[in-house]
Amino acid sequence: MLQKFDTRNNEIQVYVKDRLYPRAEAKVSVFDSSVQGGDAVWEGLRVYPEGIVCLDQHLTRLQESAKTLAFVDIPSKEEIKKAIKLTLEANEMNDDVHIRLTLTRGEKITSGMDPRLNQNGSCLIVLAEWKPLVYDNSSGIKVLSSSQRRNAPQFLDSKIHHNNLLNNIIAKIQANVAGKDAGLMLDERGFVAELNGSNLFMVKNEKVYTPFAHACLPGITRSTVIEMCQEMGVAVQEADLSLSELINADGVFATGTMGELTPVVEIDGREISKNAPLMENVLSYFKQQIRSRCESL
Ligand SMILES: Cc1ncc(COP(=O)(O)O)c(C=O)c1O
Repeated sequence: MLQKFDTRNNEIQVYVKDRLYPRAEAKVSVFDSSVQGGDAVWEGLRVYPEGIVCLDQHLTRLQESAKTLAFVDIPSKEEIKKAIKLTLEANEMNDDVHIRLTLTRGEKITSGMDPRLNQNGSCLIVLAEWKPLVYDNSSGIKVLSSSQRRNAPQFLDSKIHHNNLLNNIIAKIQANVAGKDAGLMLDERGFVAELNGSNLFMVKNEKVYTPFAHACLPGITRSTVIEMCQEMGVAVQEADLSLSELINADGVFATGTMGELTPVVEIDGREISKNAPLMENVLSYFKQQIRSRCESL
């Protein structure tokens, strides 16, 4: 699956540091930390007419990631919300929109890793684009297990939502080469971690399972699905899951803000059904309920 260019995004306004710029002029310096070392944190947000899905949770994760990385001037939630509101209003956007929200450590006085070189304040970027759900959630996606492991905390804590995405990009390249939609990443012990850009769940014998979050991003859609299963009275459990358990599951689905809930219909060439009744129930409950989790600005 390759995302296509949406011509509506030709004329968008993008918020960078303290104001809006037309798309062609929206840039950061070559001295910015994101260019120098991927030294930035980010969130993906989805916009509905009712507001932004789980906005407060996303802003908490952004701030916590920045705190872990010792950013010194983390903007408040109110400041970030103001920048998002300004951007959405300038672009007249309120549906079918995805926001890439980035906070870089900012511009350095000279190139180098040392955060003490960052003397110009952090840089908030609000990139709102017209972007409906990225996968066709009725046909599902095919995935390939990757030789690239997802980071566990002894290497780089996956709880930090940072811009050092090369592990995941390598997994995605492997999937691309094989003509599949996403790379399935294992943890350092060989248990399933997540897809390169979304979390994984499986359904087996009337129970829902998801990998522990020690080597995957603790996704906000992931925690929403866990809460929704509890609301529905469906048993849900975090567990160490092997590739074989996923391949032999009644159903497997991916979760994330970009694509919401997407059936996985093939793992390493083995077919997985997308018609497991419990999985269908969870997917349709999510669709009905997700807008009630929107926060308006
Ligand atoms: C590696 C990875 N896993 C999972 C997710 C899904 O997280 P969320 O549900 O918070 O969008 C993302 C989204 O940014 C991601 O980058």
